[in-house]
Amino acid sequence: MNNFVYHNPTKLVFGKGQIAQLAKLIPAGKKIMITFGGGSVRRNGIYDQVVKALEGRDWVEFWGIEPNPSVETVREAIALGREHGSEFLLAVGGGSVIDGTKLIAAGLLYDGDPWDIVLKGQADKTVPLGTVLTMSATGSEMNSGSVISRQETKEKYAFYGDYPVFSILDPETLYSLPQRQIACGLSDTFVHVLEQYMTTPGQSRLMDRWAEGILHTVIEIAPKIWENQHDYAVMSEYMLGATLALNDMIRMGVTQDWATHMIGHELTALHGLTHGATLAIVINGTLRVLREQKRGKLLQYGERIWGIADGSEEERIDRTLEATKKFFRSLGLSTRLSEEGIGETTIAEIERRFNASGVKYGEAQNVDGAAARRILEACM
Ligand code: NZQ
Ligand code: ZN
Repeated sequence: MNNFVYHNPTKLVFGKGQIAQLAKLIPAGKKIMITFGGGSVRRNGIYDQVVKALEGRDWVEFWGIEPNPSVETVREAIALGREHGSEFLLAVGGGSVIDGTKLIAAGLLYDGDPWDIVLKGQADKTVPLGTVLTMSATGSEMNSGSVISRQETKEKYAFYGDYPVFSILDPETLYSLPQRQIACGLSDTFVHVLEQYMTTPGQSRLMDRWAEGILHTVIEIAPKIWENQHDYAVMSEYMLGATLALNDMIRMGVTQDWATHMIGHELTALHGLTHGATLAIVINGTLRVLREQKRGKLLQYGERIWGIADGSEEERIDRTLEATKKFFRSLGLSTRLSEEGIGETTIAEIERRFNASGVKYGEAQNVDGAAARRILEACM
C-alpha cells in the first residue's frame, strides 16, 4: 500500500425524517444562504421540510443552480451571499447544487473571480457548508471535490476545497427522481468505483473487496429500483452506496485512474450530455484501449463481479467487457458515441484540448490527447 492520509470530517445524518435535524446541525445565530436547483424540491415537499425545520432562523434563498453548475450562476449567488452577509451555506439538491455551492463557499471569501479558484484547482478558505441530498450519484455530499462549467467557453473542470460539515441523506427524497436520473446516478456510482479499482491488482485486498462490494450492490439493486422506486430498503442502499463510492474510503493507499471522467467532462462541456451518461459510453472505450495495462484487474473483476472464470484470458476479458456494456444498457443508457450523435468533430476537439494543456491522465499517466482519441474511437 502507498502512504496516505484519510480525513473525512463530514457528519452523515441518514434516514427518514432527518431533514428535521437541520436546526440542530446549523449553529444558532448564523446567517444562512440556502441554495437550490430548478425547483424539483418545491414539487416533492423537500422545500417545505427545510423551511419547517429552520423556522425562525435568518436565511436567504438562491434558486437556479443548474445541472452541470456554471460559474456564471455562481457569481450571482456570491453577490447575493455578500449582500446578505451569509455565514453558513445549505445546499439542497443533487451533485450540481452541492458543487455550485462549494464554489460559492470559496468565492465568498475570495476577492477575485471564482473561475480563478476552479483553474487553480484548490480553494484556500471556505464558508462552512451543509447539504440536504436529493439525488444520489456524485458523492459530493461527503467529499471535497466540485466540478464547475463555464458556459462562455464550454469548459468543465474540477477543484478541491473543504468537505461539507454535514449531509442529510433521507432515502425518501429519491422517490421523485426521474428514471433517467437514477440510471445516470447508478452509472456514476459504478464508474466511480471502477476509476479507483480498475488499475493493477495486488495493491490492497481491503480496497478491492470494498470496491467489489459496492459494484455487487449496484448490480443487485438496479432491477429492484425499476420494480419499485419507493422501496425504502433498496433506495437506502442506493443512497449510501453512491456516497461510499466517492468519499475517499475505497482509495486508501491505491492508485487511481479517472481518465474516463476527464474525457466524460469534455463530452458534457461540449454537448451538455448528462455526466453519468457520458461515463456509460466512455468507460467501454477506456477498458478496451487499456486492456493490456488493466489485464490483471479485468480478470479479477470478471471473475468476482460477473462470475467469468472459464476459458482463455482473452475470452474471459472479452466476456467481461461485454457484461459491463450490457449492464449499462440494462440501465437504459447509450454505450456508443454515435447513439448520441457525437462523432469526429468532437473527438478532434477533445484531442486538441488534451494536447494543448499537456495532460496525462490515468494510473499510468498515459492518457494524453492521442490516447483520448483512441478511447473515443473505440466507443464510436
Ligand atoms: O434542479 P432540480 O429542479 O432540483 O432538478 C434536478 C436536476 O434537473 C433533478 N433532481 C435532483 N433531485 C431530484 C430531482 N428531480 C426529482 N426529484 C429529486 N429528488 O435531477 C437533475 C440532475 O441533478 P444533478 O444535481 O445535476 O445530478 P448529479 O447529482 O448527478 O450531479 C451531476 C454533477 O456533479 C458532477 C457532475 O460532473 C455534474 O456536474 N460531479 C461531481 C462530483 C463531485 N463533486 O465529487 C464527482 C462526479 O464524478 C461528478 O463529476
Ligand atoms: Zn462521476
